[in-house]
Amino acid sequence: MSIRSRAAWLGLALAGAGVAAGLRRDQTRPLRRGPTEVPEVDPELPRFPAGFHFGAATSAHQVEGGTTNNNWTRWERELRPDGRTGVLTGEWCGQASEHWERFEDDVERMVALGLDTYRFSVEWSRIEPEPGRFDDAALERYRSWCVTLREAGITPMVTLHHFTEPLWLTDRGGFEQPGATVAFEAFTERVVDALGEYVDWWVTINEPNVYCVLGWLYGEFPPGAKDLGRAATVLYHLMEAHARAYHAIHKRANASTDPAALPAQVSIAQNLSLFEPRSWANPAEVAATRIVHRNYNAAPIHACQTGRLRFGFPGAGVNRRVPGLEGTLDWLGVNHYFRQLVKVPGPEGLPEAGFDHSSLKSQMGWDLLPGTLARAVRWADRYQLPIVVTEHGIADDAQPDLKREWFLQESLAGLAEAVEHGVDVRGYLHWSLMDNFEWAQGFGPRFGLYRVDYDTQERTLTTGGERYRDIIAANRPMPPG
Ligand code: FCB
Repeated sequence: MSIRSRAAWLGLALAGAGVAAGLRRDQTRPLRRGPTEVPEVDPELPRFPAGFHFGAATSAHQVEGGTTNNNWTRWERELRPDGRTGVLTGEWCGQASEHWERFEDDVERMVALGLDTYRFSVEWSRIEPEPGRFDDAALERYRSWCVTLREAGITPMVTLHHFTEPLWLTDRGGFEQPGATVAFEAFTERVVDALGEYVDWWVTINEPNVYCVLGWLYGEFPPGAKDLGRAATVLYHLMEAHARAYHAIHKRANASTDPAALPAQVSIAQNLSLFEPRSWANPAEVAATRIVHRNYNAAPIHACQTGRLRFGFPGAGVNRRVPGLEGTLDWLGVNHYFRQLVKVPGPEGLPEAGFDHSSLKSQMGWDLLPGTLARAVRWADRYQLPIVVTEHGIADDAQPDLKREWFLQESLAGLAEAVEHGVDVRGYLHWSLMDNFEWAQGFGPRFGLYRVDYDTQERTLTTGGERYRDIIAANRPMPPG
């Protein structure tokens, strides 16, 4: 079973014994089981307050094509002792969705959907192919993207690190070494100098929890390690890298030339998964769930607010102040996909988090419970920061993609209700604009609002995409007259 169908916290939950109280405070009442068939789609479109932002998200390696100088390229190609590569299908990312060349056409597709925000990442290995050598042409290309977006009335949101980094950094030990945080700061400065004129919204690190846990605890992302101590070191350095980038951005980019510009708005995009004990009557499962939730969901956000990272458990992990980290979230990016049930013991006697095998699934095998998005933002609201859903979506290969249509509609209906009840969510960015390379799963899973034919690179709007377009249109002010 792949890590994307399990929780990523092996080892941490071993400390579960004896910590049973308080989980309900964190996660409120249990969620119901999901449907087993695609329900009919509600014709009533969800309504959000005026000014709510609608957008989509991508990341460089997954869509651009030609990103061959990073840690993922090696992971896709290098054979492991079992004769396989790090991608289950053996695929290489290759030309992906050719977004690098086709960006301008893809902006037309964003306009056709009515998007007002586009979140993309810049590829560090393109911008700094060798240590200290920055490629002006690559920076210029990204700058032209920002101009094109602005001209189309779309606000760019830029992610600086989305799972990939240049091979030269990997060869120096990557984020296991403190030097990576200094290199990341220098890279950030260059990007901000090139793009700051057009960009107010910045995401420093995408899903620090997923990157560290899949790469260093479950071994399903590069470098394929399974070591809690190393995972904790990486998370510590990611937090430090975020702090350095936060201050660099604020120092250099005070506001874009957009007349409605805000001072730079900086956050991480935190993956929030909902964890529930398989049985609320089982104290060991309740205890393990609480530990998983604290380490996976809360630790990075809490660290950015207080300046201290607590990850793992006494004797294993990290409990240390991170220089410059306190108060470094101007808003909170929430990536949310699913709820998982924590079971004790799982295979090999260890606790495990997995899905409720009786309900409807996405192509990834993830349970489809649309109510969890609202649950995730309600939980995140305790940090008293403006929230943007920076990723949320579903892989659906069917044509028509009826699951996506229903899941999107219902998730947004729940989100609208949360907003109505006062949860401070400012926008929703769907994952993803178009089909792309889904990391260890390769090209099979189809997350796109646009379906991509990888032979011709033709893009076709999906049924879910049509629904999203209609929801956005229903929420736009009527044109005058
Ligand atoms: C998130 C990643 C994103 C994509 C989605 C499906 O965890 O940030 O790149 O793979 O999952």
